[in-house]
Amino acid sequence: MIQPGKAALVLAPMEGVTDFPMRRFMTERGGFTHCVSEFIRVSQEIPPRKAFREFVPELAQGSQTAVGTPVQVQLLGGDPEKLAEAASLACSMGSPGVDLNFGCPAPTVNRHDGGATLLKYPLRIRAIVEAVRRSVPSHLPVSAKMRLGWDGVDAIFENASMAAEGGASWITIHARTRMAAYQPPVFWRQIGKVKQQLGTLPILANGDIWTLEDFVRCREESQCEHFMMGRGALANPDLVHAVARELGLPNDQSRTSTSLIRECWAPLLQRFIEISLDYFPVQSAVLARCKQWIRMAERNRGLNWFDEVKRIPTLQGLQEYFGLSEVSLGSREINP
Ligand SMILES: Cc1cc2nc3c(=O)[nH]c(=O)nc-3n(C[C@H](O)[C@H](O)[C@H](O)COP(=O)(O)O)c2cc1C
Repeated sequence: MIQPGKAALVLAPMEGVTDFPMRRFMTERGGFTHCVSEFIRVSQEIPPRKAFREFVPELAQGSQTAVGTPVQVQLLGGDPEKLAEAASLACSMGSPGVDLNFGCPAPTVNRHDGGATLLKYPLRIRAIVEAVRRSVPSHLPVSAKMRLGWDGVDAIFENASMAAEGGASWITIHARTRMAAYQPPVFWRQIGKVKQQLGTLPILANGDIWTLEDFVRCREESQCEHFMMGRGALANPDLVHAVARELGLPNDQSRTSTSLIRECWAPLLQRFIEISLDYFPVQSAVLARCKQWIRMAERNRGLNWFDEVKRIPTLQGLQEYFGLSEVSLGSREINP
């Protein structure tokens, strides 16, 4: 999936955001080369097959979205052997490799020995990657996703080299610390230094690509040819195409920038609602997902009509507000 000399653009895992319907929606618009699933937690028990199928329904279809974009399962936990067992299960179910989460900043996750907590223990990162690498068939990649450190941006050098020693196929770096959460600034230059340190190991640059100018600066500072985008892709879906164009990846030339005006969001929402209703048979859940998505765009791009949207009580109301056809609701048996 990720190779030196071959550009890549990956849809970021975002728990509760880039789930099955959003992965399907984002990949059918083109631009992304692969996706990483939301994290699946591995604590006392190995998650059963059912849990994998629920989190990553794509496993039933060759671990690809509807348009054939690969989806890699992400695991989160602190126990090497349990993670190894879960990784082996994920691959036996069709995942094209496994990504390991060393970046989640959520306090509950960190208190339970998962996510960014591991950044305080470089040797444990090596042990985890090593154990998972051993359990995953050698032709499938094992990757690591991490922040720069727990509270300092230089921890990345040791943590990344431990992941590399453990056998990581590539490393994704979100260029800020756990303590910085999502506050600016991002330190893309640190990624560039890690890249120099690790030679040919592919590194994916991640964090705060909101505009094409951000992307150009991120590429310059990180010296990367592989990128991951999350919030910026949702806030401006056409930015994905502009970035793909810069990377020489297949893209739609006509897509330049998703406008801030609400009319331009109508066809996007129409399609997202159609896809989501197949997955969440409850209208209120689909309404919440639409609002969550538009809020992400509003926070970062200032959509001045969001105040009106957040007060809309029903999915039907949302459809009326955007002048959407209601075929998608009328044809299904769904609960309000
Ligand atoms: C709501 C939310 C949920 C996230 N969930 C995950 C996750 O499940 N696994 C993971 O590795 N990172 C997760 N992240 C981090 C993103 O993958 C990404 O590293 C971060 O948002 C920075 O990239 P961006 O600025 O392009 O969004 C999450 C981020 C957000 C905002």
